[in-house]
Amino acid sequence: MKFTSQVVIIGSGIAALQAAKHLATQLNVIIITKSTIRDSNSYYAQGGIAAVMSINDTYGSHIEDTVKAGEYHHSLSAVEQLVEEGTQGVQQLLNEGFPADRHSTGTLSLGLEGAHSEHRIVHSGGDATGKVTIEYLLKSMPDNVRIVEQEMAFELIVSNELCTGVKTKTIDGAVHTYEADHTVLATGGAGALYPFTSNRKMLTGDGIALAYRAGAVVTDMEFVQFHPTLLYINGEAKGLVSEAVRGAGAVLVDETGRHIMEGVHPMKDLAPRHITAFELYKARQNGHDVLLDISMIDHFEECFPTITALCTKNGIDIKKGFIPVAPGSHFLMGGVKADSCGKTSINGLYAVGETACTGVHGANRLASNSLLEGIAFGKRMAAYILSCDQNVQVKKRATIAFPLTVPPLFEIAELQAMMMENAGMIRTKEGLNRLVDCLKVVENTNGDISHLSVSEIERLFMHTTAYLIARSALERTETRGAHIRADFPEARDQWGQSWVTVEKGKISV
Ligand code: SIN
Repeated sequence: MKFTSQVVIIGSGIAALQAAKHLATQLNVIIITKSTIRDSNSYYAQGGIAAVMSINDTYGSHIEDTVKAGEYHHSLSAVEQLVEEGTQGVQQLLNEGFPADRHSTGTLSLGLEGAHSEHRIVHSGGDATGKVTIEYLLKSMPDNVRIVEQEMAFELIVSNELCTGVKTKTIDGAVHTYEADHTVLATGGAGALYPFTSNRKMLTGDGIALAYRAGAVVTDMEFVQFHPTLLYINGEAKGLVSEAVRGAGAVLVDETGRHIMEGVHPMKDLAPRHITAFELYKARQNGHDVLLDISMIDHFEECFPTITALCTKNGIDIKKGFIPVAPGSHFLMGGVKADSCGKTSINGLYAVGETACTGVHGANRLASNSLLEGIAFGKRMAAYILSCDQNVQVKKRATIAFPLTVPPLFEIAELQAMMMENAGMIRTKEGLNRLVDCLKVVENTNGDISHLSVSEIERLFMHTTAYLIARSALERTETRGAHIRADFPEARDQWGQSWVTVEKGKISV
């Protein structure tokens, strides 16, 4: 079937919903998700939203923390917009009645997280900020937003460098076409490319693969953040244990009680995420267990009900004071190259949130800047689209593509193991070369994929995104932020303001 709308948004996390809410003041919007509307990484976000809400805090301090944590590989103007407009966006939500946690005096309860020099994390429901925020946005969504669930976007309709919509596939195999003046990719990141992840399993890099296959520029794909503390039981990651727990005083210890972060970084357990995650990785490589000592936190269950429930479900009695943890993939700093209005290298195509790379996160995202990004840039992109002349785009018929015969692909577990080993926390030229060799078949996968099933499309997209990560990581011959090269262990000046980009199979710096 064929549908038309002024805007089509693919994905349903915070950036998608914030954009839809603002766009729908004037335009018709369709939101398409391959899952259900409440099944997104945003929905499960625990920590909160970083924003300058305290009188002790300043925009300058938040900007400084952001660029320091990301090792100065940013677009400074985009960081300034993130912090200033993000704070204004949070204030707008609060003015409208967003139920943030407050002290009994009525002032906001602001949490602390890694690499922040101030308490600035706005949270809600203790550690259920994502759920409360998504429910709030859904409740305030205008009627002219239509939500389509369980349809997988498999192809952007692009002709002459102009995107005019997207094709989707249902579980039953039906193909639908959505024509739109503005097509937005907001599908989140690609945490599910790794066996240990805080992400939902549908975070398979779809938006990035869709954009890349359509010819858009993709950048910074080598920067994959590993979160230090996933609940770790019997060799499996069971979910996130928020950094807010360390913000409340918890410390990382090994089985002998040694304080792991002592002497590693002046901020100790609240060091930037990549530093903490690397230290835990080394401790585990040396045969140690890693535990989060929470014994000093009063009223843990009240402050962190989601984490308490996660622990209880997995047989961990938090009253004993320790939670077993290990690092796992968490956030992709890279993505579809976009400006802070979401504009990509293809007219009519936008990317926002984790799918986009606007230069706000540098080489390592600052804690709780991701929900902030959704609020700031979801709104900014909507304002840009609303300022465009409507219906000026000439619809052009896409060129006819031949059905693709997909080359043999790896099973998902196999792909995840290869990614962990060769493009995980520590990378080498040899490992990355091996991975690129295994994955380069995706370079020859142009063509019509409408005959593939949803799961086959998803697996192809996972391979495409994995390839982009491996190929980009091979190119960056330095260690910076979350990209750690054992064979190039130092940051190199010439790389600070250099971006690895991939477009139509060509890599450049
Ligand atoms: C956390 O709660 O530790 C994760 C928040 C974030 O990724 O910023």
